[in-house]
This record gives sequence, C-alpha cells and structure tokens, in this order.
Amino acid sequence: MNPVAAAVLSLHAAAADHDPLLTEVIAGLSSRPKFLYPKFFYDARGSELFDRICQLPEYYLTRTEIAILREHAPPFVRSLGPGVRLVEPGSGSSLKTRILLNALTPPACYVPVDISRTHLMAAARTLAAQYSHLDVLPVAADFTQAFELPRSAAPTHRTLVFFPGSTIGNFDRAESIELLRMMRELAGETGLVLVGADLRKDPAALEAAYNDSAGVTASFNLNILARLNREYGADFDLDAFEHRAPWVEEHSRIEMHLVSKRAQRVHIRGVEIDLAAGESIWTESCHKYDCEQFAAMADAAGLRVCEVWMDEARRFSVQLLAAG
Ligand code: TRP
Repeated sequence: MNPVAAAVLSLHAAAADHDPLLTEVIAGLSSRPKFLYPKFFYDARGSELFDRICQLPEYYLTRTEIAILREHAPPFVRSLGPGVRLVEPGSGSSLKTRILLNALTPPACYVPVDISRTHLMAAARTLAAQYSHLDVLPVAADFTQAFELPRSAAPTHRTLVFFPGSTIGNFDRAESIELLRMMRELAGETGLVLVGADLRKDPAALEAAYNDSAGVTASFNLNILARLNREYGADFDLDAFEHRAPWVEEHSRIEMHLVSKRAQRVHIRGVEIDLAAGESIWTESCHKYDCEQFAAMADAAGLRVCEVWMDEARRFSVQLLAAG
C-alpha cells in the first residue's frame, strides 16, 4: 500500500474508535513538521503540573497577572452591578477567577469551561462550596469548538468572558481572531471580554519562564507523550526526547518542542511514527504581543479595546474589550 493510502486508512481506523482526539493526534504526528495541539497537555496530571508551573519563580506570568487583577478588577467588576454571567474558557483551577468572584454582586452565575473533566469538576465543587450565592455551571468541553452556554436559574443581564493566562498566545493570529470572535458571540452586544496577554520583553526572561531550573516545564511538555502511552497504549520512550523552548523573534513567540534524541519508531494504535535524530514534535507556541498588535487582533474580531491594565514593568497586560 502506498504511504498516503496507509495514512488515510489509519486515520479512518482512529476515527472508527470514535475518539476525535486520537484522530487529531495521529494526523499531527503524521504531518511535517510533526505537531500536537496544546490542549492535549491538560489531562488530570497535566493540569496538576500546569498549576506547579504557575508557582515557579521563573514563571512571572501568573504572579504578575494576579497583581494586576487585584489592583484593577474589583472596582471594575463592582461597576457591572448584579446579574452578571461570568464565562471562563480554559478555567483550570479557577484561581484567578476568585478575584472577580469576590467582587461580583448576586445574583450571578459562573460558567467554567475546561477540557479536563476531572480537574474542572473538582474546581467547580470547591467553588460552589465557597460561594454559596453563586450558581456554578461547569461545562466539560474543548473551548476551541462550539459549546453551549448552560441556562442559569438566576436572571443575568450581562456576560463577562474571562480569558486570562495568555492562553490567547497559544494560538496563531488567525486562530486567535477566531477565538476572540467566538468570545464576542458568547458575550453578546452588551457583553465584555477580559483577556490576559503577555507582552514582548527580554528573550532571556522569556526563555527562563518556559525552561525552568526545576524542570517542571520539561515534565509538563513530556507528559503529553506519557499521556499518549497511558491512554492509547503508545510506546514513546520519554528518555529519548528532550524539552526545548527557544524564543523565535521572527514570529514573536516561544516555541515548545519535544526533540527526538535519536532515530526511532513509535507505535500508536497500530500506526507507525518514524522520527529522525533531532526531529521535533512541536507542542506549543506562546506568542508575545505589544499593545498595538493586540488591538489590531481585537479589531479584526469586532472587539474594541476599552482599557489596558499593566504592571509597572509592563511585563503583562489585561485587556478589557467590548463588542462594537
Ligand atoms: N498560556 C500559558 C503560556 O503561554 C501556557 C503555558 C505556560 C505553557 N507554560 C507552559 C504551555 C509550558 C506549555 C508549556 O504561558
């Protein structure tokens, strides 16, 4: 059989498993260059490792964004009044959300959306216990695909979409505009979108943030292969891959790669994947912006930048966007 026919057949075999993730995994590993979507990072183990990344000394993003939110978010959220629906795509542990929740006036509802069901449900249970006035409505979904907003028992008159953590940076320009458009739809005509976007800075600081000295980011990156071994019986030898996270000036991004240390053949659900020595599987991009670039993306998505909150050193920005 020719290689194209074989690849098509294996794609069908994967699809027959009714597992769209597996289909995407095999398609990515069969491409050139090889890639895996960052959403695969977030199984229960990956979500835990990500929480540890957020506490690393080199990973300035979380700490900086939290300080910005503590300073600016409470008066802003209070100004929205009662009846706010807060929607958060990629909510993870919902830690930053608490800064917003603490300032929300009831009745209000919170819709956390996350791809890791286990992590999502645990976070939602904890929140529901701590915020008794809040209607918590978790949605286990891949936020890059359309999902439906659940109905709240509480009357809501305004939607605030919260997208922190520079998750927007993990998508290329066209995908980011698409996502911002989707958030504009979720928010509706009177809604608002609050997005955390990391800013361009000294490449050494950026590279340190994605290649910490304790090796947590390396474990997080490698967990994507460990997950394929666990869930799909793949036979990736984790010792044969190396974590790399170079700054790529031309694209204004950190690129996360898993580089094969030697020529090797890996199997996943009957599909053979060959890797040359030094060949990479591209797992993530983390784009860094300046405010003009970000505003241009928002504009292309039909959103207007109302306010930009930054720390004094201008490391990170939180952008408040409105429809129209
Ligand atoms: N949104 C985060 C970021 O761009 C995601 C992230 C942080 C990440 N550290 C990572 C993704 C390490 C992959 C590997 O910073």
